[in-house]
Amino acid sequence: MHFDYFIPTRIIFGRGRLDELSSLPLPGKKALIVITNGKSMRNLGYLDKVASLLEQNGVEAEVYDKVLPNPIEKHVMEAVEQARNGNCDFIIGLGGGSAIDSAKAIALMVKNPGTYWDYVKGLKKITQKILPVVAIPTTAGTGTEADPWTVISNLDTNEKIGYGIPELFPSVAIVDPLLMVSVPQKLTAYQGMDAFFHAVEGYLACVAQPFSDMLAKEAIRLIAEFLPIAVVDGENLQAREQMAWASTAAGMVESTSSCISEHSMEHALSAFYPDLPHGAGLVALSVPYFSYLLEKNPDKVRVRYIEMAHAMGMPGETPESFIEALKKLISAVGLSDLKLSDWGIRPEEAEKLAANSFEAMGALYELDPVALTPQDAAQIIGRAIR
Ligand SMILES: [Fe+2]
Repeated sequence: MHFDYFIPTRIIFGRGRLDELSSLPLPGKKALIVITNGKSMRNLGYLDKVASLLEQNGVEAEVYDKVLPNPIEKHVMEAVEQARNGNCDFIIGLGGGSAIDSAKAIALMVKNPGTYWDYVKGLKKITQKILPVVAIPTTAGTGTEADPWTVISNLDTNEKIGYGIPELFPSVAIVDPLLMVSVPQKLTAYQGMDAFFHAVEGYLACVAQPFSDMLAKEAIRLIAEFLPIAVVDGENLQAREQMAWASTAAGMVESTSSCISEHSMEHALSAFYPDLPHGAGLVALSVPYFSYLLEKNPDKVRVRYIEMAHAMGMPGETPESFIEALKKLISAVGLSDLKLSDWGIRPEEAEKLAANSFEAMGALYELDPVALTPQDAAQIIGRAIR
C-alpha cells in the first residue's frame, strides 16, 4: 500500500457558519471577492453579507463580478489586474465552482508574470508566491473548496483544462448548507451529479487509495439517497446538508485519487459548447462511458461496479447493476430526457471532440481502469450524442 494524504484546507462546515467570517483568522487584510456575472450573489444578499462580515473582521474588500459559468482566461487576467491595482492580498471565491476556480487562478497570477495559460501549458514556472484563497461555495457539486483544481477555458484555443498544484488548495473553506437552499432544481441536479461522478471516477481510478475509497463510497451513497430529495424539495435542509458534505467529500476524493477520462471528454464538450453545464455533459456521457468500460474489460471494473451499486442501494452481484443504479439515479433527479443535441452538439463531431479530450486532458486517460484509445473515446462520445 503506497499513498499520500495532503489536504491542507481548514474546512468550516455547518448550517449558519458563514457568520464566523466576522471573527475567523483570515489570511490577509484586503480581499478580492470573485463572483459570477449572474445576479444571484447580489439578489440573495450573499455578497452584502460577506462584505459586511469582512468589515466586522477588519478586512477590506473589492469585487470582481464578471466570471462566466464556464470561466475563461480573459476574465482571470482582468481580475488579476484589478487585484494588483487594488493591492489585494488574498482572494475569496463566492459562488459555484466557476467563482472559486477563478479565485484560485487569479491567486496564482497576481504575483506571477505572463498569462495564466503560460502556467497551465507548462511554458512558465511559478516563481512567486500564490495568494491564499478562501472558498465559500453556494452550490453542492464541484468540491473545489476541498481540492487543488481549477478549471478554466481558453476560447482562442478551444481548450478547457483542469490545472492543480498543492498551493491551490484553499486555505479556508466555509461550507454552509444554508447558502445552497436557493439553487434552482435543474442546477441542483447537474451540480449534484458532478459531485457523484467525482466520487465514482475517483473510486475507479487506478490511483484510488484507502482514504479516497472511504470517502468515495460514502459520497456515492449519500448522493444516491439525498440528491433526488434535494432536487424535488430544495428547502429540505437535511438533503442540502448531506449533499454539501457529499460534494466536499467528493472534492477530497479528487484530492487523494483523481477523476478519469469521463471528465476529459466532458471538458472537450464544454470547451466547444460553453453553454453546456458541466454536470449535464457528464450525465449525457455517463451511461455510454461506464457501459463501454464494462464491455471492453469487465474484469477490471466488475468488483468496483458491484460495490458502487451496493452503495447506491441496488442489490445484485453483477456489474451491470451499477449501470442500472446510475440510470435510476439519473431518472430520479429528472435528467432522463437530457440530450446533447439540445446544445447543438452533432454526432459527426465525436472524433474531433475525442481528439480534443486527449490533447487538452490526456493525463486523465492514464488513470483509467481500462485503457481507452481516441477511437474508443469517439465511440463513447458518439453514443452519448442524441
Ligand atoms: Fe467535475
